[in-house]
Amino acid sequence: MTRPALNQDRDDLLFERVAQIVADTFGRRSTIAAIYRKRSEYSSFYASEILSVQLDTGDELKMFLKNFGSYPDPKDAMEQRRNRELHVYRDILARASLGTAKYYGSVWDEPEGPFWLLLELVRGIAVRHCSFDYWVEAARWLGHMQGYFYQNSGLLQGHEFLIQHDGPFFRSARERAFRAVSQRSPDLGKRLAAALSPYDQSVELMMRQPKTLVHGAYRPAEILVDASERPARICPVDWEQAAIGSGFYDLAFLADGFKSPQLEQILDAYCTEAANCGLQVPDQGSAKHIVNCYRLHKTVTWLSQSFDRKFPEKDVMKLVSMAEKLAGLVLSNRTACVP
Ligand SMILES: Nc1ncnc2c1ncn2[C@@H]1O[C@H](COP(=O)(O)OP(=O)(O)O)[C@@H](O)[C@H]1O
Ligand SMILES: [Mg+2]
Repeated sequence: MTRPALNQDRDDLLFERVAQIVADTFGRRSTIAAIYRKRSEYSSFYASEILSVQLDTGDELKMFLKNFGSYPDPKDAMEQRRNRELHVYRDILARASLGTAKYYGSVWDEPEGPFWLLLELVRGIAVRHCSFDYWVEAARWLGHMQGYFYQNSGLLQGHEFLIQHDGPFFRSARERAFRAVSQRSPDLGKRLAAALSPYDQSVELMMRQPKTLVHGAYRPAEILVDASERPARICPVDWEQAAIGSGFYDLAFLADGFKSPQLEQILDAYCTEAANCGLQVPDQGSAKHIVNCYRLHKTVTWLSQSFDRKFPEKDVMKLVSMAEKLAGLVLSNRTACVP
C-alpha cells in the first residue's frame, strides 16, 4: 500500500481482503498495482475512508471503508450497532435489488477489531442538500423498500440482531425520558409525565401497524441521491439502527418539519408506492396521525438521552414543549381511522 503502514498486521489483513474482492469482481488474473487510502470528508461518528484500488490493467475500484474501531467517544451498544450494520448489508440488503450500497466485504475480528466494513463508494449527495423533488423520491423509495420487505418477510426472519419495535421498546423510552428530565428538574419531569398521558394509546397504535424493515434513522443526512442516474438513485446509508417495525417510524424522520402541502406530498408518495408494493396503508388523515405518534416517540427518545448527553437546559425545555405540542396533536386526532 502507498500509505505508510501504522500497523503492518492490519494492513496485511486489509490487503488480503481487497485482493479477494478484486478477484471476485475482475477475475483471478487481476493484479493490484496500488491501494490509496484517504479519510472521507463525510466521516461523522466513525472514521471512514475512501479506498482507491488501482489494477495493473488500468481499472480502478473505489470503496467506502467504515471503520467501527475509530470514534471520538464510546456510545451505547456499539458492538450491537456495528454487527447490525454488517448483517444488514451482507445478509439482507445484498439479497434485494433496492439500489443500496453494494456490500464488498469486511475485516472483522471480535472482540478487539479491526471492524472494517467495505462498501461500494456511492456517488451522490445527501438529500438534505437537494431540492424538494428528491425528498419526495426518498419517500417513494422508502415505500418501495418497505413494501418489498413486507411481501418478502422471510428475508427478515432469523435475524435476531434487528431491533424489535415492540411494546418494551416504546415504553422504556418513556421511562428513561421521565428519569432523565426529572434528574434535571423534578418540576419539568412532572410536566413531561402530564404531557405523555396519550403515550400509551399511541404505543398501541404504533404496534398495530404492519411490520417490515425499518432503517431506524431515515434522516436527510443519511440518504444519498445520485441525480446523474435516470431515475435518480436513492441510497440510504448508516443502517446501525435497523429494526422490524412500521415504515411510519422512518417516514416521521423524513417528514419532520414539513407542513402542508409538502407534508401531504411526502406522505402520498410513500403511501402510494408502499400500497403498489403490497403494504396496507391508511388514508391520509390517519397517516398524519400515525406520523405524529412516531414524532412524539422520537421526542421522547431525545429526552431520554438529555441527562447523559448533557443537553443544555433550554434544549430540554424546548423538547418538553415539543412533546406537549405533539401529545396535544395525538390527542386531538385519536379518532382517525387506522387499518
Ligand atoms: N457507501 C457509501 N458511499 C458513499 N458515501 C457514504 C457511504 N456510506 C456512508 N457515506 C457517507 O459517509 C457519511 C458517514 O457514514 P455513516 O455510515 O453515516 O457513518 P456514521 O455511523 O459515523 O454516521 C454518511 O452520512 C454519508 O455521507
Ligand atoms: Mg451517519
